[in-house]
Amino acid sequence: MNTVSAAELDSLLFELVATAEGRADPYPRYAALRAVAPVHRSDLGFWALSRYDDCQQLLRHPGVGKDFSGAANSVGLTDEQRAQQDRFRNDRSNMLTTDPPDHTRLRGLVTRAFTPRTVETLRMRIVALVDELLDACTGEVDVMDALAFPLPVTVIGEMLGVPAEDRPGLRPLVRGVTAVLELAVAPAAVAEATAAHTRLEEYFAALVAERRAHPGDDLLTRLIEAEDKGDQLSEHELISTTILLFAAGFETTTHLIGNGLLALLRHPDQLARLRGDRSLVRPAVEELLRFDSPVQIALRTAYEDLSIAGHHVEAGSVVLALLGAANRDPARFRDPERLDVGRDEGPPMSFGGGIHFCLGAALARLEGHIVLDRLLDRFGTIELVGALPTYRDSLTLRGLVELRVRFGA
Ligand code: HEM
Repeated sequence: MNTVSAAELDSLLFELVATAEGRADPYPRYAALRAVAPVHRSDLGFWALSRYDDCQQLLRHPGVGKDFSGAANSVGLTDEQRAQQDRFRNDRSNMLTTDPPDHTRLRGLVTRAFTPRTVETLRMRIVALVDELLDACTGEVDVMDALAFPLPVTVIGEMLGVPAEDRPGLRPLVRGVTAVLELAVAPAAVAEATAAHTRLEEYFAALVAERRAHPGDDLLTRLIEAEDKGDQLSEHELISTTILLFAAGFETTTHLIGNGLLALLRHPDQLARLRGDRSLVRPAVEELLRFDSPVQIALRTAYEDLSIAGHHVEAGSVVLALLGAANRDPARFRDPERLDVGRDEGPPMSFGGGIHFCLGAALARLEGHIVLDRLLDRFGTIELVGALPTYRDSLTLRGLVELRVRFGA
């Protein structure tokens, strides 16, 4: 350090979270931040961590949590818009936004459905779904529409018992709501998210009523039974949990498939290597998650003073774990900017860490393994069509607008 001033570091961070250029291409900015100030206290109102070990330490720390009331966790909003955004971040009714003991109770109700062993029972169904979707992929297709969205939304939709005909209509609402996960969100998007959230609540309230009258063999019915027992979860928590599971079940895995396939297409040597040695499918999925993670940021509030790599982080501070930066930390991964489908250096940070570690990690991995395997089985060539695809203008959730490819036999 310190040829770069704090103001310059802040403008780098601002570019990252609040400009289209920064969000489209975060990796050089992460590298610059990590090299100069890996534990950075920003005048934007939060701390930013860009090293693997520091992010792990934060997410595993018992003295941090998800209460962001009144905390600086967004840039560029008026007080009123921020208050609206806070309503989402502080909706303490599902596991993603709560601390123990509520977190433990809410997560505990559904953990069994997502263990690696339970998820493995879905394998044949997922293979059949992928094959069905790939049957329709002849010639040139947009992989996002043809596979990356329909596969995970069908898998989580079937698990939960969300009727097939309703799923496509829920997608824009979920998209609308996820906008508030961004640190810098357009004011119009906050209003849109509020409206979308209300419609999702109405939809799932009606579905709960319907399923209560006609129970099914699905996760929603089991949650309703838990609620009906009395003290395990409230109606509001039931609806909120269902929305979370549905949204988290596809919005992220969609981007694992899109970002992952794009990375392979941009590195034909790695695609060829994978084609030649299928035992690499598992490490390849870990590497694709590391290389271009669908989730780039996890946020926490420090409930007590923390010491992170010698920095004193005061109680009340909001701290960003820059997962995408941690995934390219040279202290953790050799030659981190290189895609290496045979890499065997432990898991990436893409699923977070600590008590909020992604509940759906085993499911997302399984879907990733099957997609890669079946794509390689079925198509002798896969090529990008046209210009390089563009990313959606968001950073917390990172994914492509579309991905046009040509499949050849
Ligand atoms: C590649 C795909 C996925 C990625 C990269 C991903 C990433 C993440 C991350 C980073 C977190 C932690 C957020 C935080 O600490 O604030 C998380 C939590 C969560 N994820 Fe995933 N996720 C993926 C797929 C899924 C799937 C398929 C589901 C299925 C329902 C799911 C359900 C959840 C839930 C319920 C939480 C909240 C857990 C808690 O707060 O205890 N995710 N995910």
